[in-house]
Amino acid sequence: MRRPALRRRPRRRSRPARSFRSLLTASSWELESRNARETDRLGVAIGRALKGGETLALFGQLGAGKTALVKGIAKGIGSDTSRVSSPTFVFINEYGGRLPLAHVDLYRTESLHQVESTGIQDHWIGNTVVAIEWADKGLQLLPDDRLEIELRHNSIRSRTVRLHATGRLAARLLRRAKELHRRSTSVGRGQRKKTLPS
Ligand SMILES: Nc1ncnc2c1ncn2[C@@H]1O[C@H](COP(=O)(O)OP(=O)(O)OP(=O)(O)O)[C@@H](O)[C@H]1O
Ligand SMILES: [Mg+2]
Repeated sequence: MRRPALRRRPRRRSRPARSFRSLLTASSWELESRNARETDRLGVAIGRALKGGETLALFGQLGAGKTALVKGIAKGIGSDTSRVSSPTFVFINEYGGRLPLAHVDLYRTESLHQVESTGIQDHWIGNTVVAIEWADKGLQLLPDDRLEIELRHNSIRSRTVRLHATGRLAARLLRRAKELHRRSTSVGRGQRKKTLPS
């Protein structure tokens, strides 16, 4: 099915990468994931919070859980999660659902030129959500407004997850994801539902 013509969002170049350490501000959230299921639950909350057009920049070493998180995000969007895997050789996978999701993996790219050759820029259009593993390899090409998510190993199953919103769109996403995640962890504890922040 052909997608209706959508207005291309202006491409904005970002400033060079800064370390995560310097980005801990009010737009940040840090939590511990004690196992893959908790990472999945976080992903689902992010997926459900997405409104369309957001960029998710994923950082973390091999096996940190970036793809595991994207699987949760795809689930939250309502995509067919059996198709979600690291697009290491094809660079970009596209999934459907409530919103189009482009899943990018820049692991094998060795220069900014190669990153551009993946066609990543073509996905910053309309309401497509773009989730990028190894985003550090293409940071200069990413929109200024993005949700940066870093996963770090603590042990075999434990990860520290740091989320940082660098713009208004991402900050709104982070607020909603936090609230949905809080609700999903409080289910069964008899807590009352509250209206989501807009
Ligand atoms: N808390 C956790 N969060 C996420 N994954 C976890 C966790 N604990 C264990 N795991 C396991 O770690 C592995 C993470 O693999 P995944 O493919 O998601 O990593 P990745 O960051 O995408 O790696 P790559 O850079 O190779 O693509 C999975 O096998 C998952 O089951
Ligand atoms: Mg991966």
